[in-house]
Amino acid sequence: MASATESRHGMWSSKWLFVLAAAGSAVGLGNIWKFPYIAGQNGGGAFVILYLLCIAFIGVPIMMAEVLIGREGRQSPINTMRHLTKQHHRNPAWVLIGWSGVAAGFLILSYYVVIAGWALYYILQMGSGALHGATAEDAGRMFSDFLDHPLELIFWQTVFMAMTVYIVSRGVISGLETAVRWFMPLLFLLMFVLLGYAMTTEGWRQGVDFMFRFDLAKITPDAVLAAMGQAFFTLSLGMGAIMAYGAYVPSNTSIFTTVSIIAVLDTVVAVAAGLVIFPIVFTNGLEPAQGPGLMFVTVPLAFGQMPLGALFGTIFFILVSFAAITSAISISEPALAYLVEEYNAKRSRVAISLGVISWVLGLGTVFSFNYWADVGVGGQPTLFDFVSWTTDKVMLPLGGLFIALFAAFALPKTVVGAQLGIDGGLLGVIWKLVCGLVAPLAVLIVFISALVS
Ligand code: PFF
Repeated sequence: MASATESRHGMWSSKWLFVLAAAGSAVGLGNIWKFPYIAGQNGGGAFVILYLLCIAFIGVPIMMAEVLIGREGRQSPINTMRHLTKQHHRNPAWVLIGWSGVAAGFLILSYYVVIAGWALYYILQMGSGALHGATAEDAGRMFSDFLDHPLELIFWQTVFMAMTVYIVSRGVISGLETAVRWFMPLLFLLMFVLLGYAMTTEGWRQGVDFMFRFDLAKITPDAVLAAMGQAFFTLSLGMGAIMAYGAYVPSNTSIFTTVSIIAVLDTVVAVAAGLVIFPIVFTNGLEPAQGPGLMFVTVPLAFGQMPLGALFGTIFFILVSFAAITSAISISEPALAYLVEEYNAKRSRVAISLGVISWVLGLGTVFSFNYWADVGVGGQPTLFDFVSWTTDKVMLPLGGLFIALFAAFALPKTVVGAQLGIDGGLLGVIWKLVCGLVAPLAVLIVFISALVS
């Protein structure tokens, strides 16, 4: 049976809209909030280089695998895997890829929405001028005061969840297209304004040094695992989000070109965020390894010192919220598309139910920053750290590993060749080598070395 040419959920209107939507999924809190703080916790330079290697040798091939599987199946990841395993007489256990993606999606969405709520709160704080002329101490105090008020965190979590559910109910395609068309270019522009500011700070050189100085001693198995986990998270890989978006990609779009563009855009934003944040850290004597609060202390501080800082700061947090919402939408898409297909349910109903479940789960993250701040879970300092650890470092890489193996070995060569526009030959061999060997082996080696250590 030939693969369908259209998905019942709609289609991206062009190759560029796919690039924008997938970049909208990839670029989010992972780049601007998580990348700098994880790089800070892992000592900078060596981590950043490992991260870039993981993007190129694990991320890009796995993203290609997700898009090609999605486009071949043209349904939600679970039904795509069901359809493809049946059609090609493969073991039905492959469908677990789809289920584990849905589970990871709930967990990620639960905390993602809480952090995105912080960005919403900071839109108001920046707009009100409360941070004008603030010192590092003021900015730190404002953030920790905020965290001490769980009801406030819950309020912003709820607002962000409601916005996500609303957009998702309207359908990913119409909900997203307009949003990404505007916000992506604006976000880039503003990152460069901030970069310009960072360059004028005293800590610029030290920040750049911190980001890129390669110190072999800092390459520990844990740092490698963190880099790999971050590569999966930032590219939205290993849980079917890109596979779900792949289902809406027009048949004549080149997977290699689009995936490369998406990976480059995503990496540029993450590296730019690091280059903005670390110089501010060093200029103000802050701690690079301070954890999840890093962006929320440094960026307001910078805007507080800049001319027109209140205006730019407000725009910045609006853009971060946009970046977060376009990612949140994609996190829920695998589960949403599945439920709509399976029960013929109305999108809005499904969206509300999904939203309520992850909202409740998200309370665990809210309390991780106040009531339960000292309650370690599963060897991690808080429940939030545990959820983030389980998803980034275990579920996404494992999901990605099996996705790569499925594309390389379970799908017939002709199907892969047609999807990638290569008919065997040297390119076919390279693809098989990278997707079937290099990427899965790299994931396995990182896992095993982290386990052994
Ligand atoms: N890539 C997003 C970010 O960097 O913020 C987060 C994300 C989106 C993770 C979609 C996983 C996912 F499926």
